[in-house]
Amino acid sequence: MAEQVYIFDTTLRDGEQVPGCKLNTKEKVGLALKLEALGVDIIEAGFPISSPGDFESVSEIAKLVKNATVCGLTRAVQKDIEVAGEALKHAKRSRIHTGIGTSDFHIKAKFNATREEIIARATQAVKWARNFTDDVEFFAEDAGRTENEYLARVVEAVIAAGATVVNIPDTTGYCLPHQYGEKMAFLRNNVSNIDKAVLSCHCHNDLGLATANSIAGVIGGARQIECTINGLGERAGNTALEEVVMILKQHASLGFYTNVNATMLNPISREVSDIMRMAVQPNKAIVGANAFSHSSGIHQDGFLKSAETYEIINPEAVGAEGSKIVLTARSGRSALAYRFQKLGFQFDRNDIDILYASFLQVADTKKEVMEEDLQALALAHAAVTVQ
Ligand code: KIV
Ligand code: ZN
Repeated sequence: MAEQVYIFDTTLRDGEQVPGCKLNTKEKVGLALKLEALGVDIIEAGFPISSPGDFESVSEIAKLVKNATVCGLTRAVQKDIEVAGEALKHAKRSRIHTGIGTSDFHIKAKFNATREEIIARATQAVKWARNFTDDVEFFAEDAGRTENEYLARVVEAVIAAGATVVNIPDTTGYCLPHQYGEKMAFLRNNVSNIDKAVLSCHCHNDLGLATANSIAGVIGGARQIECTINGLGERAGNTALEEVVMILKQHASLGFYTNVNATMLNPISREVSDIMRMAVQPNKAIVGANAFSHSSGIHQDGFLKSAETYEIINPEAVGAEGSKIVLTARSGRSALAYRFQKLGFQFDRNDIDILYASFLQVADTKKEVMEEDLQALALAHAAVTVQ
């Protein structure tokens, strides 16, 4: 039987940290309700101690969201945790996400501490958080560069202290997929109380591997993925929600499912892009403007014979407008005939041969041949053939 992978959306926290993406409370609440409708399991609503505005947003979201768990981020600091507890107090289901850096880079440079002191601070933070909710997630920041044996000790200690979810962030996006997957498998096999907690993937995209690492993490034993709409997040971003959801759906043989309604992926991508004023790159998987566009003659010919030759996802299944046949100087006769047909012109093979030569002349002068260019070509052709 397929197993559920929980989708933890952090668009409102890690995504909103992106310069220029800041949202006000009204915008955050609106987006949280849409994320809930999308079917995400956990919404990380913000970092309550970071500003009065973020506190208010988390608090308002906690009051209104009913089906998803509402989560607030904290450092492993008592005051942070108390403030998060206060912000989340009206939530139907609340989670506190607390943690501390565990790599030697963080232990030495950030905290000037020892490994043992970090374990003590980590377990203390989890205990403080448990005073506010039974659902406590611990993050081992920079786990991607933390030695596995020490990480296993940290994970065992925080689970013993009451953590119910343990997040293994690849904070710097450093890991290769097999390393990240092996890290999860190592924890599953070497932490004695691991059955008492869910392991979570939180991958950054500095090397373009965030999605691949998250999937490797799930194969290695994680059952939660932290991700954002359009892959927004610090620096090169986080794992893109739409990508992991569709990978698990398209590769059902992996044996996993999520509760996300895939038909809402494109509409929510556009909304996030609009309110955060952050354009989506056209070649972005699933939600980019070109994700279902075909422009080269070879691809267009195959696609027009059978969509499956060049599409692995039906665009309607992810709420996209539909497949597009784009005309460029690389397009072929079948695509040209198809586009003329869509405009109501019926040309035979001979007409298309003649029109194709004129089409190429136009196409060589522009990036894309548009409807108005086709109308002009058709009119010019009619004028010549009527004479
Ligand atoms: O990237 C990271 O390590 C984080 C933690 C705060 C979870 O965002
Ligand atoms: Zn992060």
